[in-house]
Amino acid sequence: MTSTVGYEIRRATTEQELHAALELRHDVFCVEQGVPEHEELDGRDRDGLHLIAVEDNELLGTCRLLMVGATAQLSRLAVRASARRRGIATALLAASDAQTRAAGGRRIVLHAQTYARRLYELTGYRPRGRVFTEAGIEHVAMEKHL
Ligand SMILES: CC(C)(COP(=O)(O)OP(=O)(O)OC[C@H]1O[C@@H](n2cnc3c(N)ncnc32)[C@H](O)[C@@H]1OP(=O)(O)O)[C@@H](O)C(=O)NCCC(=O)NCCS
Repeated sequence: MTSTVGYEIRRATTEQELHAALELRHDVFCVEQGVPEHEELDGRDRDGLHLIAVEDNELLGTCRLLMVGATAQLSRLAVRASARRRGIATALLAASDAQTRAAGGRRIVLHAQTYARRLYELTGYRPRGRVFTEAGIEHVAMEKHL
């Protein structure tokens, strides 16, 4: 989907790509952020659609969308530490909008880690409700109407 920036955003279609996405999530959430493995792997990966950012055959970012009626639940947004601040998360969020629309969805909801709230605000999400703790990390619920 994107070429001038060096990485490509697309849906994970093979077992190998899904496996690479899960490995990146493990590195980012479990190793870097200390999220327990049983919370990171919630048993819903087979129900969801996974987007990936790939450059030179290396998986640099991922996120997951679960459709519940006209609402998509976005989660597991992770970018490899060495590839951050290059717009990869922003591009994954834009692709999530497109995928959700294509599936007939009208809204995306997510739990944002509060430190990353700006990322979501810049892409059109608004907070709803209070700050809460999930997996030991401060979060706020956010949503975007498409
Ligand atoms: C949060 C995360 C996904 C951002 O990925 P990224 O590809 O670096 O994000 P982008 O380059 O698209 O950032 C776009 C904008 O969001 C904001 N932003 C991104 N990371 C931020 C951070 N760590 N702190 C504050 N603002 C941030 C900035 O405004 C940034 O624009 P700028 O680089 O011009 O300042 C990445 O840091 C990550 O994987 N973190 C660990 C896992 C995590 O926290 N996931 C999110 C769960 S809610």
